[in-house]
Order: sequence, then C-alpha cells, then structure tokens
Amino acid sequence: MEKESKRGSFTGQLGFVLAAAGSAVGVGNIWRFPYLAAKDGGGLFLIVYLILVLTFGFTLLTSDIATGRKTGKSAIGAYTEMNPKWKFLGVLTFFVPVIIMTYYAVIGGWITKYMVDYFTGHGKAAAADGYFSAFISNPVESVIYAAFFMVLTAVVIYRGVEKGIESCSRFMMPVLLVLIVFVAVYSLFIHHGDRNGLQGFLVYITPNVKGLTLKKFLSLLLDAMSQLFFSLSVSMGIMITYGSYVKKEVDLNRAVSQIEIFDTGVALLAGMAIIPSIYVFSGLDGMNAGPGLMFISLPKVFASMGFFGNIVGAAFFLMAVFATLTSCISVLEAITANCMEVFHSERHKTTLVLGIIYTIASIVIALGYSIFYCEIPLPNGTVGQLLDLMDYISNSVMMPFISLLSTILIGWIVRPKWIIGEVETGGVRFHRKQLYIVMVRFVCPVIMVVLFLQSTGLLSKL
Ligand code: PHE
Repeated sequence: MEKESKRGSFTGQLGFVLAAAGSAVGVGNIWRFPYLAAKDGGGLFLIVYLILVLTFGFTLLTSDIATGRKTGKSAIGAYTEMNPKWKFLGVLTFFVPVIIMTYYAVIGGWITKYMVDYFTGHGKAAAADGYFSAFISNPVESVIYAAFFMVLTAVVIYRGVEKGIESCSRFMMPVLLVLIVFVAVYSLFIHHGDRNGLQGFLVYITPNVKGLTLKKFLSLLLDAMSQLFFSLSVSMGIMITYGSYVKKEVDLNRAVSQIEIFDTGVALLAGMAIIPSIYVFSGLDGMNAGPGLMFISLPKVFASMGFFGNIVGAAFFLMAVFATLTSCISVLEAITANCMEVFHSERHKTTLVLGIIYTIASIVIALGYSIFYCEIPLPNGTVGQLLDLMDYISNSVMMPFISLLSTILIGWIVRPKWIIGEVETGGVRFHRKQLYIVMVRFVCPVIMVVLFLQSTGLLSKL
C-alpha cells in the first residue's frame, strides 16, 4: 500500500481507461488513419484494421499493461524483473519515448497555433497558400508554440498521476469524443457542386478491391500493422508505465477491450470527419498524410464551408489539441517514471529537469525548419528534416524491433502464463486467452520480422 501511494495510481478502471485512451488517441488517429483508409481501399482497410486490433493490438496491449501492473515498474525495471539478462530491452524501450519527446511537443505547438487561429476568427487566413510553411519556418513563432506546449505537458506531469494525468484525461477525453462526433456528423451533410458528404462516406466505408493484387494487399497489411501499434502506444514503454499505476482490483481484460474500442472508435470517426470533407471539396486527390492533411488541405476545406467553417475548424483543432496533449503527457510520463526509478529521484525534481531538457530539445527540432534546416536522406528512400529523422528512428526502426523482442521474451522465455496469471488476478476470466498464447508465441514474432524489414526499407532490397 505504501509503495502504491508513493508511486501514485489511477483511482480506478475509468480513470485508467481514459488516461490510456488519452495516450492512444493522438495525431496518428487524426492524420494517418484517414489517409491510409483512403489510400488502401476504404472499407477493405477498415476490415483488415479491425481484425488486427482484435488480434495484434489486443496481444501487445495486454502484454504491456499486465507487465506494468505485475512488476509495478516502468520499462527498464519491468524487463529487468522479468529476466535480468533482458534489461537491455527495457533500456531500448525507454529510448523510444526519449526520442519521441523531442518532436511531439513541436507538433502539439503547430496544432495549438491553428486552434488559436480558428478561435480568433483567422481561419480564412490559415487556408492561404504557403501559410503553414511560413509559420514553421518562422523561428520565433514556431518556437514559442512548441515551448508552450512542452511546458504545459510538464506542468501536468509535475502534478502527478491522479491530480495531473488522470484529471486531465477525465476532462479532455469525453470532450474530445463529443467534438469528433460533431465534426463527423457535420461532414455527412455538406455538399459542393455535384458531390455530397454521404457519397464521400460511402467511398470511405465501401471495400474497394478493384485492381487488388497480392503485393498491394501485403502493403495494405503492413500499413495497417504499423499504424496499429503506433496508434495504441505499445512497444514504447508507455503502457507499461500506465499499467504500473493500475490497482489490482481493476479488470485488465475489460480495460484492454475498452481502450481498443476508444482508440479505434476515434480513428473511425476521424476518417468519417475527414474523408467526406476532402472528397466533397477537392476529390480524394486532396488526401495526403501527416501535416499536409491537417494544416493545408483541411483549412482549405473549412474555408470553403463559409461561416460554419470557422466553427467546425475551431471544434476540430480543439479536439486535436486535446488528443495531442494527452499523448504528449504519456510520453513524458514514461520518461519521468523510468528516471525516477533508475535515479531514485522524486517526481517534482525529475519533472523540472526533464521539462528544461525537453523544452530546449523541442526548440531545436522546431528550428529544424528554419535556422537548423537540413535535408536528411532516410533509408526508406524519403528525404526529411530533423523531426522526420526522429520519427523514423523511433517508429520505423525501434518499435517493430522492440515488439519482436518483447513477444519472444514473453512467448518463449518467461512464457505466456506470466502475463495470463496477472490478467486473471482476482478470478477475472481472460476471454481471449488461447488467442493470446498463439499470437504472442507464433504470429507476432513472425509478422514483426516482416514489418521491421519493410519499414526499414530492407524488404525491398531482399
Ligand atoms: N498513439 C498516438 C497516436 O496515435 C501517438 C503516440 C506516439 C502517443 C507515441 C504517444 C507516444 O497518435
């Protein structure tokens, strides 16, 4: 009990589920999921994604959360406790949020800037050509927003698990849900020329198998898979840390299902909000991934909506700020918790030091579009700036590799019963137990090798 109160804990199942969903729901749901759905055959992608959530997503999420709760530690301590020889995996996992944190607040800053624009009635200006690139290459404004977002994140972490993370998620996640439902429903009623939102919605949900080849299907599968574990925040130690704050009386089996439903539900709603809007105003050629979708295509769509565009835009960017802030919080918490355990330091001091380090790091990354501009060729054939490099290392290289190692560790070394026993604590029934065993021992390791080879560009060289 003393250990629990000293580390902090979530008050109960709801608090935990909202915090974990807060981590899971982020820019991935908003700017990547809809793009992939539009690119990879609409409903076909949706079906594949749903199957993967219920199999892979469930396996990795259960493993992370149960590991955290069983050991009561974050990644480094947890993997060391599982097997001291595997401490390196904990250290590797710890470095994923360490890297992500350098750029996540920069993206949060961009979104905050647009939210401010819409709330102050400048939505039309935000739709002008060159607006986004002028903003990110402005060394003063982009830095102020990035630093602001980083400091805001640090303040929440400073307040602790219950008063900071949980209370923030309890407020933001329900509001986020209401806002995304509003924008999604609104998008069904828009029309322009001979196109309307409903037709766009049908494009989104109808499985398009025209010209489908095995190669295309494989690339769809890999797209869905990498999206899935980025989206669920697994294999980066975040869910291990959050799991370590979950009380023993919480039913992990149900909590995992609820997190899956929340994260996937928001991704589906984001697709419903974005795809019909883009379809109506510019056809699906206007669909692109990442910043281009959110900061260039969507403002143009909002501007075409006339007066209501400002309201819909404001609702959309407020929702996006909440999604990004709760994710950013989870990244910093994973780093903070590991540092507190390794250095036996106290939360306030640790947050203060990390807050300063990462404010500086965010400023450097934000300046990667102006003073520190450079063009870095990445192994997958693209060219990126500092932010893209960090994103590539953490998401394309480290995460599939960590998933592979962690499933080998659980499946073959400590054995699935180590996790199963934790899920079944207090007589809880583990509904997908057999599925879990098959996934963690056989299916996950094989698929993770393929994913690793693909996302590092090695597959095409074979
Ligand atoms: N899961 C978040 C999303 O889908 C992204 C995220 C990445 C969150 C890394 C935390 C850490 O956008």
